Amino acid sequence: VRKVVLDVDTGVDDALGILLAVHSPELEVQAITTVNGNVSLSTATLNTCKIVEMTGQTSIPVIPGANQPLKRVSYFEHRIHGVDGIGGALKDMVPVKQPESAYAPDAIIHLAKTSSEPLTLIMTGPMTNLAEALQKCPELPTYIDEVIYMGGAALDMGNVTPVAEYNMYVDPEAAWDVLQAGFKKLTQVGLDITRKALLTEDHLKRLDDTKYGAYVRESTSDYMKRYSERNGVKACAMHDPLAVATAIQPNLIETKHLYVDIETNSDLCDGQTVCDFQGRLAKKPNAHVGLHVDAEAFLDLFVRTISLLQEE
Ligand code: BDR
Ligand code: CA
Repeated sequence: VRKVVLDVDTGVDDALGILLAVHSPELEVQAITTVNGNVSLSTATLNTCKIVEMTGQTSIPVIPGANQPLKRVSYFEHRIHGVDGIGGALKDMVPVKQPESAYAPDAIIHLAKTSSEPLTLIMTGPMTNLAEALQKCPELPTYIDEVIYMGGAALDMGNVTPVAEYNMYVDPEAAWDVLQAGFKKLTQVGLDITRKALLTEDHLKRLDDTKYGAYVRESTSDYMKRYSERNGVKACAMHDPLAVATAIQPNLIETKHLYVDIETNSDLCDGQTVCDFQGRLAKKPNAHVGLHVDAEAFLDLFVRTISLLQEE
């Protein structure tokens, strides 16, 4: 069983990643830390509390972190995730579950140092919390087994600008700090593979009569509309759940060990991840970059797990 911390900006797909993580027997979720991203920090934290409460696993601490990027202004994705971040689902829920009073970067350091075995961090929002943790504790990488981050694009296009993926675009300085920090294992689950991991009507049907069926249908409804307007297919990309699934079953994706850097100083290209496939920069590889995914196996794992099939 892998001890993991999830760092989230709970939007539609982050929430689905939380459901997958919490119900995976392979993972033990030590805490969920929240960050400003798709929505404000307070909304991301509220959404996370709602999701945790819905799972019934309310002993998992929810710990708020950075309420803005390191150096930039917030860039919310209300267009994609709805004003509330989870597509209007659970709108009337007033969770009993409350966030902790700790600060996420400090909590990440504390959990990493006191864990009985090295932690895995699964990052599905902008990387501000981890960057702040590194500023406070530069030796943090020695306590961490692996950082899996949803973000970037190696060969694919961006999804905010022509070249930048959202999580990287929002806080490129933080991503730079993480990429340069010397983690033993950094794994990039970027748009090259998450765009292939599509939730479709067939999956929704399989979930329909299960605990989370109605929630998943409602929360993804507008998200799917946005996706179909752009791509002509009724589906949506499961960006963040794929990062969680990579911790559960690493062989779902194929990676290449590359040097990855990020642009922080260009009007046109800020937030672009630059993956050095041909070693032109003569730098040591720092990330295992996901390039292929067994999408069918991933979606099957997702649907089976959140249908709670293993628990019956
Ligand atoms: C990422 O951006 C956010 O909108 C999603 O939650 C995901 O983490 C995809 O680029
Ligand atoms: Ca996210």
